[in-house]
Amino acid sequence: MSMKTLSIALFATAATLSVPSAQAAGDLNLICSADVVICEQLQGDFEAKHDIKVNMVRLSSGESYAKIRAESRNPKTDIWWGGTGDPHLQAAAEGLTQEYKSEMLDELHDWARKQAESSGYKTVGVYAGALGWGYNTDIFKDKGYKVPACWADLLNPELKGEIQVANPNSSGTAYTALASLVQIMGEDEAFDYLKELNSNISQYTKSGSAPVKAAARGETGVGIVFLHDAVAQAASGFPVKSVAPCEGTGYEIGSMSIVEGSRNLENAKIWYDWALTPEVQSRMKEAKSFQLPSNKSAEIPEEAPRFEDIKLIDYDFDKYGNPDTRKALLERWDSEIGAIAN
Ligand code: F6P
Repeated sequence: MSMKTLSIALFATAATLSVPSAQAAGDLNLICSADVVICEQLQGDFEAKHDIKVNMVRLSSGESYAKIRAESRNPKTDIWWGGTGDPHLQAAAEGLTQEYKSEMLDELHDWARKQAESSGYKTVGVYAGALGWGYNTDIFKDKGYKVPACWADLLNPELKGEIQVANPNSSGTAYTALASLVQIMGEDEAFDYLKELNSNISQYTKSGSAPVKAAARGETGVGIVFLHDAVAQAASGFPVKSVAPCEGTGYEIGSMSIVEGSRNLENAKIWYDWALTPEVQSRMKEAKSFQLPSNKSAEIPEEAPRFEDIKLIDYDFDKYGNPDTRKALLERWDSEIGAIAN
């Protein structure tokens, strides 16, 4: 090969490498904050459809927020899918995520679009689910416990050491529980309640759904979790029943955000639009992910706990997703509850 042919060949190779092909390719770095089974299903389905490799890390909602914040000078993540909305809203307010107005927004339920509008289009709702608990019916029958129907019933001394809930620093589920109790009872009363409840708690887990997985395996009587996570255990054949508390309860708007400074921005947008389609959301149930989908045309799983059947509070997402409020509540939890936790 002459020098001239060689340099033409090298130039052609370099050009192929640097010019993006018509079909998107390359990598997408994803943090997924829902159950690992749905995270892996989404990863596989997306890779099967697009010529993009998804590098996925599964982390709880609060941990994901902390990772994105820690990496903000040198972002390693492109997109954050799932997890409760409050830390997504906090990330949006702190400029850790970026605006994207997807064409799919018109297809979404009001609650999902509102999440986008109130954050300046830096996050969007992908699913919703209400908070409650799941209990192991065998344990309750064997030990003769009274089934707790209300938040107040969880204080029953017979449930000492029988309840698990996550730590609200790492888990969005547990932060939703904390913020919901504050909205239902008032802040001081909610902390008094949590101090009393602490006597019945055997463990504050890292992940939000871990408590009901422990209940399913018979390791604890009750797990305070999102109702869809309790239903998932029952659907897997475990002796678990779910309870929506009588005083009322909060809910999540599971969200999705593109990270500011994403190095694979086009791929992040392709994921974003794809994840809002009815086809993708209708398939979530295959992974026993029974949240309510945000696309109006997506199929609602038969197992999904319906909002119409639950006494829901008017959860103030603007307030409890605000950085100052979230930080203050978590600090108070650390000093008053974390400090006395086993
Ligand atoms: O297990 C699924 C799920 O409950 C989601 O609905 C929710 O967004 C997420 O987990 C919360 O997980 P964590 O409490 O670990 O942040």
